[in-house]
Amino acid sequence: MPRVAVARSDSLYFFGTPFRRRASQGRSIPNLTEKGRFPKVLAAVFHKNGGPEVVKVEDVPVPRPGVAQFRIRVEASSMNHLDLWMRRGLPIEIPMPHIGGSDIAGTVDEAGGGADRTRIGRRVVVDPSIMYDWYRLARIPGLDVEPFQVIGEHTQGGFAEFAVVPAANVVELPDGFPAATAAAAALAGVTAWRGLMSRGCLREGERVLITGASGGVSSMAVQFADAAGAEVFAVTSSEDNVRRVRALGAHHVFDRTTTDWGREIHRMTGRRGVDLCLDSVGEAIWPQLLRALAVGGRLVSFGATTGPAGKIDIRLLFWRQLSILGSTMGTRAEFREAMDMVFRGVVTPPVHAVLPLSEARRAHELLEAGNVFGKLVLAPGSEPA
Ligand SMILES: NC(=O)c1ccc[n+]([C@@H]2O[C@H](COP(=O)([O-])OP(=O)(O)OC[C@H]3O[C@@H](n4cnc5c(N)ncnc54)[C@H](OP(=O)(O)O)[C@@H]3O)[C@@H](O)[C@H]2O)c1
Repeated sequence: MPRVAVARSDSLYFFGTPFRRRASQGRSIPNLTEKGRFPKVLAAVFHKNGGPEVVKVEDVPVPRPGVAQFRIRVEASSMNHLDLWMRRGLPIEIPMPHIGGSDIAGTVDEAGGGADRTRIGRRVVVDPSIMYDWYRLARIPGLDVEPFQVIGEHTQGGFAEFAVVPAANVVELPDGFPAATAAAAALAGVTAWRGLMSRGCLREGERVLITGASGGVSSMAVQFADAAGAEVFAVTSSEDNVRRVRALGAHHVFDRTTTDWGREIHRMTGRRGVDLCLDSVGEAIWPQLLRALAVGGRLVSFGATTGPAGKIDIRLLFWRQLSILGSTMGTRAEFREAMDMVFRGVVTPPVHAVLPLSEARRAHELLEAGNVFGKLVLAPGSEPA
């Protein structure tokens, strides 16, 4: 049976020896090419699943790039809800001890065998998907394909001074482009783009509903939908968030803590409903979402923050001829399309805060508490002196 290989080296799993702890304060990132340097770097690591307290900032061995890989000196790596799921424990195997961080922006520092050495020194953002082609190839009978993986989930990620990634995944940053913005946009941007455009087939003039609108992905989606010429309805929490989501380009924004948004959408659309809904909130609101859809409406789901068991009234499904579609991250081409919109300034991920790597635990606490608008970014080079 033919097997399609993926550029994935064991050097991603570089935890051979126990770590030695060292204070993270007042140190600059080591230059790994400098002779005589002890090859250890700082990373935010968890050794076991649990609450935010399991996240420790420690020394780890410097990762070495394997075949077709680059090592990146990380300038910025953003938090995703995925980092919370992984820390709490997912029903899949991840390398342990684990370094999260699927979004990486920084400078190519070293190249493994076969990787283009002329790119050393270039500033890049990393496409977090490995072997996204699995989604296409897995349908071909008789082809045994490496499954889809996510950097920082199935591999060690970017919450570290250095990270190793497939060389094919890097996209160069325009001159002077802020690493924090690039890292904030990567996974969230491609997920929002594919969910709305490729899976949701959003068209100009359509009505689209975006839930969890203060979230990393959804705050990008609001902007993509507005740029596409849609009429954007959004659900968020708190008055402040309503104001911020409106500033991102949403035309009608509801505070879920004070408003029956389903009823409001019904009223505002003359009982017609919305053409498309992009959702990641999941279980808690699926019944309302289905009712908010117009005849022939599409629900695109990319997450299940409040639980996996979405209840649907089957009669609504067939009578209104609704479609329910799943969407996950995106292809390399979609990643480039989404990042191009970011590079051109058409959309900009809202960055709630940029924190030093030493505050990785606090970043987990903040995101878990839901007190974040947009993205939290960890910046390994910004340790306090
Ligand atoms: N399939 C994929 O490729 C993919 C990619 C990225 C993310 N995801 C999933 O999508 C979800 C969102 O990811 P993210 O990184 O954007 O997360 P995030 O930044 O943490 O945002 C989640 C948002 O969900 C809303 N929310 C949280 N609890 C809620 C509740 N009880 N009821 C209603 N709304 C609630 C909040 O928005 P408001 O306060 O504004 O309502 C919150 O900001 C996660 O479940 C994640 O695992 C999937």
